[in-house]
Amino acid sequence: MTLRVAILISGGGSNMVRLLEDMAEPGHAAEPVLVLANDPTAGGLAKAAAQGIATSVVDHRDFKGDRAGFEAAIDKVLRKADVDIVCLAGFMRILGADFVGGWEGRMLNIHPSLLPKYKGLHTHQRALDAGDTEHGCSVHLVTPALDDGPILGQATVPVQEGDTADTLAARVLKEEHQLYPKVLREFATSLKAE
Ligand code: GRF
Repeated sequence: MTLRVAILISGGGSNMVRLLEDMAEPGHAAEPVLVLANDPTAGGLAKAAAQGIATSVVDHRDFKGDRAGFEAAIDKVLRKADVDIVCLAGFMRILGADFVGGWEGRMLNIHPSLLPKYKGLHTHQRALDAGDTEHGCSVHLVTPALDDGPILGQATVPVQEGDTADTLAARVLKEEHQLYPKVLREFATSLKAE
C-alpha cells in the first residue's frame, strides 16, 4: 500500500515541486495526492496542477481570525483525501496544538536553519548577524512548539565572505531541494515497514 502525501504551501512551492518529482520515481513508498494552499494566489498551485496533482485552497482570511475554524477546515480536506503523511513546504501559518496533535508523528516541515538555532523567521539574516561560519536547513517532525520537533535530517552550507541574506537563502534553498525529498523517502519507507 503506497502512503498518501499532502503538501501544504503558501507561495511558489519550490520544495513542493522537488517532493513531487522525487515521489514520481518508481519504487517510492509514497505518492502525492493533494497540494493545499492557504492563499489562492500561491504560485505553487498551478505547478502542482500542471503535474496532475489535485489542489485545494483553504484561505485563512475567510475565517477572520477563527484559527480553530481554519484548521478544522484543513483537517477535513486532509481526512477526505485519506492522507497518511503531511509535508509543510513553505507553509507560513503557525498550526495549533489540536491540529498538530491529530497528525503527530505524520507531519514534517522544512526550516531554513540548523535547528535548534534560529527558530521562527529571518533565519539567514540572524545567522549573518551572529557571525556564523556555517548555516543550513533542517527537516523535522512537527510538534505543538514552533520549529521544535525531532530533527529527521539536516544539511549544512558555508557562510561566505560578502554574503547577504538573499545569497545565503539561495545557497540554503539548493540544499533544501535535496534534503526534503531524501528525508521524506526515508520516512515513508520506514512508516510503510511499520
Ligand atoms: C524555504 O526556505 C523554506 O524553508 C521556508 O520557506 C522558503 C520557501 O520555500 N519555509 P518554497 O520555495 O515555497 O518551497
